[in-house]
Amino acid sequence: MTQALPLYGDQWSADIYDHEVQSLGDLPFWQSLAESAGGPALELACGTGRLLLPLARAGLTVTGLDASRFMLAVARRKLAQEDHQVRARCRLVEGNMSGFTFEENFGLIYIPARSFQILLSRDEQRSCLDRCAQHLRPDGQLALTVFNPRLDFLISPEGHHDGPNEFVGPDGMSVVHEAHSQYDRASQALAADWWYVVRDEQGAVTRRDYRLELHYFFRFEMEWMLEACGFEIEALYGDFERNEFAADSPEMIFVGRKAP
Ligand SMILES: C[S@@+](CC[C@H](N)C(=O)[O-])C[C@H]1O[C@@H](n2cnc3c(N)ncnc32)[C@H](O)[C@@H]1O
Repeated sequence: MTQALPLYGDQWSADIYDHEVQSLGDLPFWQSLAESAGGPALELACGTGRLLLPLARAGLTVTGLDASRFMLAVARRKLAQEDHQVRARCRLVEGNMSGFTFEENFGLIYIPARSFQILLSRDEQRSCLDRCAQHLRPDGQLALTVFNPRLDFLISPEGHHDGPNEFVGPDGMSVVHEAHSQYDRASQALAADWWYVVRDEQGAVTRRDYRLELHYFFRFEMEWMLEACGFEIEALYGDFERNEFAADSPEMIFVGRKAP
Protein backbone atom coordinates (compact mmCIF):
# COMPACT_ATOMS: atom_id res chain seq x y z
CA MET A 1 0.00 0.00 0.00
CA THR A 2 1.23 3.51 -0.84
CA GLN A 3 1.41 6.39 1.66
CA ALA A 4 -2.11 7.88 2.14
CA LEU A 5 -2.47 11.56 1.26
CA PRO A 6 -5.03 13.89 2.81
CA LEU A 7 -8.08 13.97 0.54
CA TYR A 8 -8.31 17.20 -1.56
CA GLY A 9 -4.67 17.91 -0.66
CA ASP A 10 -3.21 17.13 -4.09
CA GLN A 11 -4.06 17.93 -7.70
CA TRP A 12 -5.05 14.36 -8.58
CA SER A 13 -7.86 14.09 -6.02
CA ALA A 14 -9.00 17.63 -6.94
CA ASP A 15 -9.05 16.81 -10.66
CA ILE A 16 -11.24 13.73 -10.28
CA TYR A 17 -13.74 15.36 -7.87
CA ASP A 18 -16.18 16.62 -10.53
CA HIS A 19 -15.94 13.31 -12.40
CA GLU A 20 -17.00 11.34 -9.35
CA VAL A 21 -19.37 13.81 -7.65
CA GLN A 22 -21.55 14.92 -10.53
CA SER A 23 -24.67 15.73 -8.54
CA LEU A 24 -25.78 15.43 -4.96
CA GLY A 25 -29.28 16.65 -5.92
CA ASP A 26 -28.72 19.69 -3.72
CA LEU A 27 -28.31 22.58 -6.19
CA PRO A 28 -32.00 23.70 -6.26
CA PHE A 29 -32.04 23.80 -2.45
CA TRP A 30 -28.94 26.02 -2.09
CA GLN A 31 -29.98 28.15 -5.06
CA SER A 32 -33.40 28.92 -3.61
CA LEU A 33 -31.83 29.92 -0.27
CA ALA A 34 -29.34 32.16 -2.07
CA GLU A 35 -32.10 33.73 -4.22
CA SER A 36 -34.21 34.62 -1.21
CA ALA A 37 -31.22 35.93 0.78
CA GLY A 38 -31.29 39.32 -0.94
CA GLY A 39 -27.54 39.74 -0.79
CA PRO A 40 -24.27 38.10 -1.69
CA ALA A 41 -23.73 34.48 -0.69
CA LEU A 42 -20.62 32.90 0.80
CA GLU A 43 -19.94 29.18 0.35
CA LEU A 44 -17.49 27.74 2.87
CA ALA A 45 -15.38 24.84 1.55
CA CYS A 46 -16.52 25.56 -2.02
CA GLY A 47 -14.13 23.03 -3.58
CA THR A 48 -14.21 22.96 -7.38
CA GLY A 49 -17.19 25.33 -7.57
CA ARG A 50 -19.70 22.52 -8.21
CA LEU A 51 -22.44 24.73 -6.69
CA LEU A 52 -20.83 28.16 -6.81
CA LEU A 53 -20.59 28.40 -10.60
CA PRO A 54 -24.24 27.51 -11.31
CA LEU A 55 -25.29 30.11 -8.70
CA ALA A 56 -23.16 32.77 -10.40
CA ARG A 57 -24.62 31.71 -13.77
CA ALA A 58 -28.11 32.19 -12.29
CA GLY A 59 -27.26 35.84 -11.59
CA LEU A 60 -26.19 35.59 -7.94
CA THR A 61 -23.13 37.27 -6.47
CA VAL A 62 -21.07 34.61 -4.74
CA THR A 63 -17.82 34.13 -2.88
CA GLY A 64 -16.27 30.71 -2.40
CA LEU A 65 -13.68 29.98 0.26
CA ASP A 66 -11.63 26.78 0.35
CA ALA A 67 -8.47 25.60 2.09
CA SER A 68 -7.20 23.56 -0.87
CA ARG A 69 -5.34 25.42 -3.59
CA PHE A 70 -5.77 22.29 -5.71
CA MET A 71 -9.58 22.34 -5.51
CA LEU A 72 -9.52 26.10 -6.15
CA ALA A 73 -7.30 25.57 -9.20
CA VAL A 74 -10.06 23.40 -10.71
CA ALA A 75 -12.70 26.02 -9.82
CA ARG A 76 -10.57 28.79 -11.38
CA ARG A 77 -10.05 26.74 -14.54
CA LYS A 78 -13.83 26.29 -14.87
CA LEU A 79 -14.57 29.94 -14.05
CA ALA A 80 -12.17 31.08 -16.77
CA GLN A 81 -14.48 29.36 -19.33
CA GLU A 82 -17.49 31.46 -18.24
CA ASP A 83 -18.54 34.81 -19.74
CA HIS A 84 -17.28 37.99 -18.15
CA GLN A 85 -20.55 38.70 -16.26
CA VAL A 86 -20.41 35.33 -14.50
CA ARG A 87 -16.73 35.83 -13.77
CA ALA A 88 -17.49 39.26 -12.29
CA ARG A 89 -20.12 37.78 -9.94
CA CYS A 90 -17.88 35.00 -8.59
CA ARG A 91 -14.88 35.40 -6.28
CA LEU A 92 -12.66 32.50 -5.15
CA VAL A 93 -10.54 32.82 -2.03
CA GLU A 94 -8.05 30.43 -0.41
CA GLY A 95 -8.61 30.24 3.35
CA ASN A 96 -9.70 28.26 6.36
CA MET A 97 -13.41 28.12 7.21
CA SER A 98 -12.46 28.37 10.92
CA GLY A 99 -10.49 31.59 10.53
CA PHE A 100 -11.63 33.78 7.64
CA THR A 101 -12.12 37.54 7.45
CA PHE A 102 -13.90 39.52 4.75
CA GLU A 103 -14.62 43.25 4.58
CA GLU A 104 -18.25 42.63 3.60
CA ASN A 105 -21.18 40.83 5.20
CA PHE A 106 -23.34 38.25 3.46
CA GLY A 107 -27.04 37.53 3.06
CA LEU A 108 -26.36 33.77 3.12
CA ILE A 109 -23.45 31.67 4.35
CA TYR A 110 -23.80 28.02 3.46
CA ILE A 111 -21.70 24.90 4.07
CA PRO A 112 -22.84 22.10 1.72
CA ALA A 113 -21.61 18.53 1.14
CA ARG A 114 -21.19 17.92 4.92
CA SER A 115 -17.92 19.86 4.89
CA PHE A 116 -18.58 21.14 8.41
CA GLN A 117 -17.83 17.54 9.55
CA ILE A 118 -14.22 18.00 8.41
CA LEU A 119 -13.75 20.24 11.46
CA LEU A 120 -12.78 17.74 14.13
CA SER A 121 -12.18 19.85 17.23
CA ARG A 122 -14.66 21.91 19.24
CA ASP A 123 -12.38 24.95 18.83
CA GLU A 124 -12.47 24.69 15.04
CA GLN A 125 -16.24 24.12 15.00
CA ARG A 126 -16.97 27.04 17.31
CA SER A 127 -14.53 29.32 15.55
CA CYS A 128 -16.18 28.57 12.19
CA LEU A 129 -19.65 29.39 13.55
CA ASP A 130 -18.32 32.55 15.24
CA ARG A 131 -16.79 33.67 11.93
CA CYS A 132 -20.15 33.01 10.23
CA ALA A 133 -22.00 35.10 12.84
CA GLN A 134 -19.49 37.92 12.35
CA HIS A 135 -19.97 37.88 8.58
CA LEU A 136 -23.76 37.70 8.31
CA ARG A 137 -25.96 40.69 7.72
CA PRO A 138 -28.40 41.21 10.62
CA ASP A 139 -31.14 39.40 8.63
CA GLY A 140 -28.75 36.95 6.96
CA GLN A 141 -29.09 33.16 7.07
CA LEU A 142 -26.64 30.39 7.88
CA ALA A 143 -27.33 26.96 6.37
CA LEU A 144 -25.30 23.80 6.67
CA THR A 145 -25.78 20.09 6.24
CA VAL A 146 -24.24 17.13 8.05
CA PHE A 147 -24.93 13.40 7.80
CA ASN A 148 -27.69 12.06 9.99
CA PRO A 149 -25.59 9.46 11.85
CA ARG A 150 -26.70 5.92 10.94
CA LEU A 151 -26.26 3.83 14.06
CA ASP A 152 -25.99 0.50 12.21
CA PHE A 153 -23.17 2.01 10.18
CA LEU A 154 -21.39 3.47 13.20
CA ILE A 155 -21.51 0.52 15.60
CA SER A 156 -20.22 -2.16 13.24
CA PRO A 157 -17.03 -3.55 14.91
CA GLU A 158 -15.36 -4.36 11.60
CA GLY A 159 -16.08 -0.92 10.14
CA HIS A 160 -17.86 -0.16 6.89
CA HIS A 161 -16.84 -0.90 3.32
CA ASP A 162 -18.03 1.21 0.35
CA GLY A 163 -17.69 0.42 -3.32
CA PRO A 164 -16.41 -0.54 -5.74
CA ASN A 165 -17.68 2.53 -7.54
CA GLU A 166 -16.47 2.83 -11.12
CA PHE A 167 -16.39 6.04 -13.14
CA VAL A 168 -14.54 7.69 -16.00
CA GLY A 169 -11.95 10.22 -14.87
CA PRO A 170 -10.02 12.93 -16.71
CA ASP A 171 -8.47 11.91 -20.07
CA GLY A 172 -10.79 8.91 -20.29
CA MET A 173 -9.02 6.97 -17.54
CA SER A 174 -11.10 4.32 -15.82
CA VAL A 175 -11.23 4.74 -12.04
CA VAL A 176 -12.49 2.32 -9.39
CA HIS A 177 -13.05 3.79 -5.94
CA GLU A 178 -13.36 1.83 -2.70
CA ALA A 179 -13.34 2.99 0.91
CA HIS A 180 -13.16 1.52 4.36
CA SER A 181 -14.21 3.56 7.37
CA GLN A 182 -14.03 2.97 11.09
CA TYR A 183 -15.92 5.01 13.67
CA ASP A 184 -14.57 5.75 17.13
CA ARG A 185 -17.43 6.28 19.57
CA ALA A 186 -15.28 8.07 22.13
CA SER A 187 -14.14 10.84 19.77
CA GLN A 188 -17.21 10.67 17.45
CA ALA A 189 -14.73 10.66 14.57
CA LEU A 190 -14.93 8.47 11.49
CA ALA A 191 -11.57 7.69 9.90
CA ALA A 192 -11.97 6.75 6.24
CA ASP A 193 -9.36 5.19 4.00
CA TRP A 194 -10.16 5.78 0.33
CA TRP A 195 -8.34 4.11 -2.51
CA TYR A 196 -8.58 4.56 -6.24
CA VAL A 197 -7.36 2.02 -8.78
CA VAL A 198 -6.72 3.81 -12.04
CA ARG A 199 -6.28 2.33 -15.51
CA ASP A 200 -5.11 4.82 -18.11
CA GLU A 201 -5.77 4.60 -21.86
CA GLN A 202 -2.54 2.65 -22.37
CA GLY A 203 -3.72 0.06 -19.80
CA ALA A 204 -1.21 1.02 -17.06
CA VAL A 205 -2.68 0.48 -13.57
CA THR A 206 -1.82 2.57 -10.51
CA ARG A 207 -3.31 2.89 -7.05
CA ARG A 208 -3.74 6.08 -5.02
CA ASP A 209 -4.55 6.17 -1.29
CA TYR A 210 -6.22 8.97 0.66
CA ARG A 211 -7.39 9.59 4.22
CA LEU A 212 -10.35 11.59 5.41
CA GLU A 213 -11.60 12.12 8.96
CA LEU A 214 -15.09 13.35 9.78
CA HIS A 215 -16.70 14.31 13.06
CA TYR A 216 -20.18 12.84 13.48
CA PHE A 217 -22.66 15.27 15.02
CA PHE A 218 -25.88 14.29 16.70
CA ARG A 219 -28.98 16.43 16.38
CA PHE A 220 -28.99 18.05 19.79
CA GLU A 221 -25.23 18.58 19.74
CA MET A 222 -25.69 20.67 16.57
CA GLU A 223 -28.64 22.54 18.05
CA TRP A 224 -26.75 23.41 21.25
CA MET A 225 -23.68 24.47 19.34
CA LEU A 226 -25.58 26.70 16.92
CA GLU A 227 -27.51 28.30 19.77
CA ALA A 228 -24.37 28.77 21.89
CA CYS A 229 -22.78 30.56 18.91
CA GLY A 230 -25.70 33.00 18.69
CA PHE A 231 -28.00 31.39 16.11
CA GLU A 232 -31.71 30.79 16.21
CA ILE A 233 -32.66 27.63 14.30
CA GLU A 234 -35.47 28.26 11.82
CA ALA A 235 -35.63 24.86 10.17
CA LEU A 236 -34.19 21.38 10.34
CA TYR A 237 -34.73 19.42 7.14
CA GLY A 238 -33.98 15.76 6.56
CA ASP A 239 -33.27 16.08 2.84
CA PHE A 240 -33.00 18.61 0.03
CA GLU A 241 -36.75 18.33 -0.76
CA ARG A 242 -37.23 20.09 2.60
CA ASN A 243 -38.92 17.12 4.25
CA GLU A 244 -39.05 17.42 8.00
CA PHE A 245 -36.13 15.72 9.75
CA ALA A 246 -36.94 12.13 10.84
CA ALA A 247 -35.00 9.23 12.34
CA ASP A 248 -34.13 7.75 8.94
CA SER A 249 -33.40 11.02 7.10
CA PRO A 250 -30.12 10.98 5.18
CA GLU A 251 -29.12 14.53 6.14
CA MET A 252 -29.52 17.04 8.95
CA ILE A 253 -29.85 20.40 7.19
CA PHE A 254 -29.92 23.32 9.62
CA VAL A 255 -31.10 26.78 8.58
CA GLY A 256 -30.79 29.61 11.08
CA ARG A 257 -30.37 33.31 11.67
CA LYS A 258 -28.51 35.31 14.26
CA ALA A 259 -30.63 35.46 17.39
CA PRO A 260 -31.92 39.01 18.08
C1 LIG B 1 -16.58 17.45 -0.04
S1 LIG B 1 -15.66 18.82 -0.67
C2 LIG B 1 -17.02 19.93 -0.93
C3 LIG B 1 -16.84 20.86 -2.10
C4 LIG B 1 -18.05 21.69 -2.49
N1 LIG B 1 -18.60 22.46 -1.40
C5 LIG B 1 -19.16 20.83 -3.07
O1 LIG B 1 -20.27 20.88 -2.54
O2 LIG B 1 -18.92 20.14 -4.06
C6 LIG B 1 -14.90 19.42 0.83
C7 LIG B 1 -14.04 20.65 0.65
O3 LIG B 1 -13.68 21.14 1.96
C8 LIG B 1 -12.42 21.76 1.83
N2 LIG B 1 -11.88 21.98 3.18
C9 LIG B 1 -11.42 21.05 4.06
N3 LIG B 1 -11.07 21.63 5.22
C10 LIG B 1 -11.30 22.96 5.08
C11 LIG B 1 -11.15 24.10 5.92
N4 LIG B 1 -10.70 23.96 7.18
N5 LIG B 1 -11.48 25.31 5.45
C12 LIG B 1 -11.94 25.46 4.17
N6 LIG B 1 -12.11 24.42 3.32
C13 LIG B 1 -11.81 23.20 3.76
C14 LIG B 1 -11.64 20.80 0.95
O4 LIG B 1 -10.51 21.40 0.39
C15 LIG B 1 -12.72 20.43 -0.07
O5 LIG B 1 -12.66 21.27 -1.19
